[in-house]
Amino acid sequence: MKTKIVYFSSSGNTEKIANFLNTYFENEDVTIQSIEAATFEEDADIYCLGCPAYGVEDLEIYSFRPYYESLKPQLKDKHVVLFGSYDWGGGVWMDKWLKETEAAEPKTLTALIVENEPDPKALEGFETILNNVSFS
Ligand SMILES: Cc1cc2nc3c(=O)[nH]c(=O)nc-3n(C[C@H](O)[C@H](O)[C@H](O)COP(=O)(O)O)c2cc1C
Repeated sequence: MKTKIVYFSSSGNTEKIANFLNTYFENEDVTIQSIEAATFEEDADIYCLGCPAYGVEDLEIYSFRPYYESLKPQLKDKHVVLFGSYDWGGGVWMDKWLKETEAAEPKTLTALIVENEPDPKALEGFETILNNVSFS
């Protein structure tokens, strides 16, 4: 399945999840791009979108938010994995992001979040979550 990973990361934590996803989906037709290099893809089957909690429990607004907004209409009936790191907010940004993405009517919607840097245990937890999603 065509898998597209696009992420914003200022200090590398979300990037570590992106790299984990790149390995997780290595048997798929996977592309990984930081937001600076992101290209628009209309026909991916799995979209993995990564952004840390930014602003006030929001997405980063200058590069990631416009990309996500432009992609939103493509997410209908696709598999979507949202991921990112947060610090003090307890993950509230992801609750909001999930709601927003649900409205785009994806086929499956999964969230992977971690407080600050993902350690091996966090990545193991992500693997378990993903193994329970039916990407077909
Ligand atoms: C400008 C800015 C805004 C942030 N806003 C929030 C926030 O609203 N809630 C939160 O939990 N963490 C917030 N953080 C913390 C980041 O989400 C956290 O440091 C995260 O690990 C950064 O991930 P990254 O290394 O992928 O950039 C903010 C950090 C920055 C730099």
